[in-house]
Amino acid sequence: MNRAVAEAHPNIALVKYWGKRDRQLNLPAVSSLSLTLGPWRTRTAVSWGAEKDAVSFGGHPASDAVAKRVLGFLDRLDPGRPPCVVETDNDFPTGAGLASSASGFAALALAATAAAGRPIDAVALSRLARQGSGSACRSIFGGYVRWNRGERPDGLDSHATPIAPPEHWDLRMVVAVVDPGPKSVGSTEGMERSRRTSNLWDAWVAGSEAHVAEAHEAVLVRDLQRLGEVMERSTFEMHATLHSATPPLMYWRGATVEVLHEVFALRARGVGAWATMDAGPQVKVLCAPDDAECVADALRPLVSRVETLVPGGPARVVE
Ligand code: PMV
Repeated sequence: MNRAVAEAHPNIALVKYWGKRDRQLNLPAVSSLSLTLGPWRTRTAVSWGAEKDAVSFGGHPASDAVAKRVLGFLDRLDPGRPPCVVETDNDFPTGAGLASSASGFAALALAATAAAGRPIDAVALSRLARQGSGSACRSIFGGYVRWNRGERPDGLDSHATPIAPPEHWDLRMVVAVVDPGPKSVGSTEGMERSRRTSNLWDAWVAGSEAHVAEAHEAVLVRDLQRLGEVMERSTFEMHATLHSATPPLMYWRGATVEVLHEVFALRARGVGAWATMDAGPQVKVLCAPDDAECVADALRPLVSRVETLVPGGPARVVE
C-alpha cells in the first residue's frame, strides 16, 4: 500500500465560472479568473491499495453521495485501481459556497496521483482536478489564476494557468459567513437551470471573456478599483442568470443583502472594498491589507462569523 497526503487552498473566482459546455468533463461555458486563498485548506490522505474502499470526512464516514463522488473520481484516474482509503478534512465550512469542492478535489487529485506512484505535471493535474469539480482546476496553483474555457471537445486545452504568484499583490478577502450550512441547490444544478431557462444566459456568456481580459490586466498592473469593479460586475451578472431562471434560484439570504449595502456604504466613505458571491449566501469582500480590519469591523455585527483570507500558495504533497 502507498499513502500520500496533500493540502490545497480554496480559491474564490474574481471573474466567475458559471455554466458548462460539457457536463461529463466539466468543461466550462466561460473562462474565469481566481485568487487562491489561505490559510484555509483541505488536507487529504489517500491510501492506494487497501482492504476495501472507504471515505471519511473530518474523522467520520462520508455521506454516500460524497463517497460516490470521491470514489468515482479515483475510478476516472484509474479504472483498474485497487481499493483505496481516502481521509479528508477541511478547516472551514464545507459545501456552503466557500469553495470547499475546489480545495477538496485539488488535494484529492494530488494525493491520489502521488499515492498511485504516478506524479503528473501541474497542468495535467489541473485538468484532472477539473473533472472532480470545475473550480478545483484553479486551486492546483497559488496566487492569481486564469482558467481558459478552451475549445476542444476532449478538454485538453481547458486547464488553469497561473498569471501571478501570491507575492505579486498582497490583497485581502474578508469573508462574511452569513450561513455556514450546506447549500440547498448544488452549483451544477444551478448552472444548468440558468443555462436552460434564463433569458440572460447568452448575454452572460457573451460578456465573460471581456471580464476575464479586464481582470487579468488589472491584476498585472495592480489596479484594485479596476479589479473590484469587474469582479462585482461578474458576480452580479452570474446571480442575475439565477434570479431570472425558472424556477428562480436565489442563494442570498437577508443578511447577504445587508452586507452588500454595507460594502456600498464603505465605498461611499472612500474605503476600497468590492463584493463577490458564489453558490451560497456568503459575501466575500476584496480590499487592500490596510482596509481589512475596518471592513471586518463593519461586517461583524451583520453576520455570524468574519474571516480574513490572504493570497495562498499552490497545492502540495505534505507527507
Ligand atoms: O467548481 P464548482 O462546480 O463548484 O463551481 C463553482 C462555481 C462558482 O463558485 C459559483 C464560481 C467559480 O468560478 O468558482
